[in-house]
Amino acid sequence: MRFSTSSLSALSLAGLAQAAHHQVTVGKGGELKFVPEVVKAQKHDTITYTFFAKNHSVAQSSFDKPCQPIDGAIFSGFVPSDSQDVASRTTFTITVEDDKPIWLYCSQTTGDHCKKGMVHAINPPESGNTIDAYKEKAKNAPQSTSPHDGLPQIGRREISVDVGKGGLKFDPDNIVEPVGTYVKFNFSPKNHSVVQSTFDKPCQLLERGFSSGHIPTKEGTVSPATFNIQIENTKPVWFYCAQPNGNHCQSGMVGSINAPTEGNTLAAFVEKAKTAPTPSTIDPYAPLGGIILVNGKEVKTFNGNELPAEFREGNNNGDSTTITPSATHSTPPAASQTLPAWGSPDVPDYFADKAGGHKPKHWNWAEKLSPSATAFLQLHLQIENLITHLLWESYLKLETAGEWKGVYPQTIVDSIGAWAAQSVLHSATTATVMEHYQIKPHGGCKWKLPLDGGVKGFLEAWNSLNLVQIGALIDMSSQIAKEDPFLVPVLLAQVGAKSRAAGVVNMMRNHLASAAPREIGVPVPLAWSYVLGNFVESCPAEVEVEGVEKAWPGVKVAEVEEAGETKVTVEYEGSGEHWVAWIGPWGELEYAKVEGGKQVSVPKGWTGDVFVVIVDEEGVGLGEIAKHVVAGPEQVWL
Ligand SMILES: *[C@@H]1O[C@H](CO)[C@@H](O)[C@H](O)[C@H]1NC(C)=O
Ligand SMILES: *[C@@H]1O[C@H](CO)[C@@H](O)[C@H](O)[C@H]1NC(C)=O
Repeated sequence: MRFSTSSLSALSLAGLAQAAHHQVTVGKGGELKFVPEVVKAQKHDTITYTFFAKNHSVAQSSFDKPCQPIDGAIFSGFVPSDSQDVASRTTFTITVEDDKPIWLYCSQTTGDHCKKGMVHAINPPESGNTIDAYKEKAKNAPQSTSPHDGLPQIGRREISVDVGKGGLKFDPDNIVEPVGTYVKFNFSPKNHSVVQSTFDKPCQLLERGFSSGHIPTKEGTVSPATFNIQIENTKPVWFYCAQPNGNHCQSGMVGSINAPTEGNTLAAFVEKAKTAPTPSTIDPYAPLGGIILVNGKEVKTFNGNELPAEFREGNNNGDSTTITPSATHSTPPAASQTLPAWGSPDVPDYFADKAGGHKPKHWNWAEKLSPSATAFLQLHLQIENLITHLLWESYLKLETAGEWKGVYPQTIVDSIGAWAAQSVLHSATTATVMEHYQIKPHGGCKWKLPLDGGVKGFLEAWNSLNLVQIGALIDMSSQIAKEDPFLVPVLLAQVGAKSRAAGVVNMMRNHLASAAPREIGVPVPLAWSYVLGNFVESCPAEVEVEGVEKAWPGVKVAEVEEAGETKVTVEYEGSGEHWVAWIGPWGELEYAKVEGGKQVSVPKGWTGDVFVVIVDEEGVGLGEIAKHVVAGPEQVWL
């Protein structure tokens, strides 16, 4: 019989596209046998070995020297197993590279498995060096040996661990496996995760540890998504489920890899977890330190709060799609989990690392804090919190998985993350001072972030908030200098970081590159009015700034060129005799009369970012200006 050419090529194409997967049992039913004893496999096929009691291995020899390992060749390591009928959770899988014969044996010496015929072959010849000839040779071979380090090589040794199957537990809960083994976590309902911690701090994520993210799983199914990590060394590894609903970790849903049998045992870890602070923590991104596979394909980064729905049902493959952090970020950064709690003096190491340092450690506390300093700190905390949210939220959007991914080079994205982290530090610094003087932070305002319009809205908001906060810090510092001098450097130290950020923002807005913006002192009431008018959805009643009942009406400013002179038009509510107060850097303050048609001339030589405010009196100093505001402030680029 002859194949036609076309059917032949169709056959070989099919062979290429679809590698076969073979299964071989090792020692099943207590027999010293591989079943099947011979596998016929093609290039790219995989063979998975499953292991039964008591304690077997798969090792490669040459045909001539059965029961002796070849250096650097296939070895599964030993797989101890409890049952003769139920396969161990540990498997070993090899990929066939060509059609040459491969000779394999079990290297267990207790009971002389190899010599007793526990051998196996892939693609052995049908005559001459046959499997029977190999088995015969093995009978007379010297005592079998294993590769001396005992570690798996060439193939993939993998242990399968159930997460949340039949209760809040990992099964097995202590994974005893050699270095190099992969651990595959399978998720049962409802919504679990695997996150690494240290022994000392159960339920708290370990910096640079692994995290699967939360994997919601449909009732009655096992998730098609698995989380896969590799055991890198012999040190014990500790992990937990970070689901805060129901306190899984504190309820005992913890596990270990190669935990000591004495001292810091898994049982001791379970005990420690019971009293761990709630809730458990998780990183904003997943997966970390391992990969999520759905139908054998990798799922890219997603928001750690949950694996996106399209990967949960098993009919979707990973690979091609990059998942965005999705709608879970519509409320500020699912921040309750990542950013420190509102008003908290804590800075998680995560942010300290990202910011390139911690908050100040040594303070020259004064005996008490003046009432005005107290009020400033309350306000500073609010504005800084707004900045943190703006930056962190935008950073998440810009990061590898975000919807603005690729808009900026990674170095810029990283810097934005770093500035977000610095903003966390700045809030924490203020919160530390308040804590020292037992001042309770007011409740946090709810922000509206202008992020729907893409990066442009973000940049404008960042720029103006940066300048507003710099302005407020300068004003606050000058006002507290007399009564609370120790606080001045604390506040002003923040100006440097913000100022550098503002320099970068200038560049990103395609404005003149400058090392720093022009730092403009902005009277605190004006700064707060600006924040209120532009970014606040609501604030708790206790949040008050003297002289600002609510935001002053806005003012729209547009630049016009008239007979070689630059002017601006101003649009605002109200009539009467008004002036624009131009507030510039280095204490500059100039007034210009609002003329008919509401035109105003621009102070000569002024460029860059400045603030304008409409006032009802000319010539008042900055300290008094808040009493005369009609509309504004607004920020203008000249
Ligand atoms: C399995 O067998 C190997 C080789 O004899 C031995 O080193 C190892 O301790 C055994 N494991 C168990 C759990 O019996
Ligand atoms: C899974 O749990 C996380 C953490 O509690 C939560 O944010 C997420 O909404 C949950 N997802 C589902 C589908 O339950």
